[in-house]
Amino acid sequence: MRKRIIAGNWKMNKTVAEAKELAQAIVQGFTRTDSCEVVLCPPFTALAALREVIAETPVKLGAQNMFWEEQGAFTGEISAAMLKSAGCTYVILGHSERRQYFQESDETVNKKILRAFEHGLIPIVCVGETLAERQNGLTHQVVEKQVRGCLADLTSDQVAALVIAYEPVWAIGTGVVATTEQAQEVHAMIRALAGKMYSTRVAESLRLQYGGSMKPDNAAQLLSQDDIDGGLIGGASLDVKSFLQIVYA
Ligand code: 13P
Repeated sequence: MRKRIIAGNWKMNKTVAEAKELAQAIVQGFTRTDSCEVVLCPPFTALAALREVIAETPVKLGAQNMFWEEQGAFTGEISAAMLKSAGCTYVILGHSERRQYFQESDETVNKKILRAFEHGLIPIVCVGETLAERQNGLTHQVVEKQVRGCLADLTSDQVAALVIAYEPVWAIGTGVVATTEQAQEVHAMIRALAGKMYSTRVAESLRLQYGGSMKPDNAAQLLSQDDIDGGLIGGASLDVKSFLQIVYA
């Protein structure tokens, strides 16, 4: 049985004080913990503060990115070991905003995933097509290529432990959510692909999140689909009430 996972990707929002305040409110409101894992992914600058806020609670910490090298002269970068030592359990990798603005590719995401696992971090790997790709009927092809590229050289056990977030680029921050049918269809395709590439066991334990304008009013329906195990939430994760409503959905 896959445990559900709702993660808040705070992106480039919240000062340390604001982040603490939001996390405190979320921690206080999250009391039913058995059926759902909750992960907060603040900016790097707020990781240390949030680690204290979530200590002794079931809420977990995640980062939004990392570099694949171990250490050294890479000004401005953060390593997997640093994230682990800052209390992170998860790390989001290959978000479409990283791909769009910072030239990340499946190859670089793959290097990051391999390094994250070496340090005991669980990657949340983002994939998803653009609007033009969907309109041209390329969704499956694009997502399959991303999944294959990102997962290159991973072991079965690593893939089984992984979280993949399907985030159609056209749904991110736009208020245009994928229909439940569109979302379920791509999630099912990713799970079937994992089954083909690895095994049924891997496909059954891999967790798949939907991301892209997930809100309290559409979360329950999306999360009721067979292959949608959770959500990666942007805008709605910055508001305590909305985020907790999604968690309880
Ligand atoms: P929104 O929920 O703001 O559409 O963002 C989704 C996202 O990019 C999560 O990683």
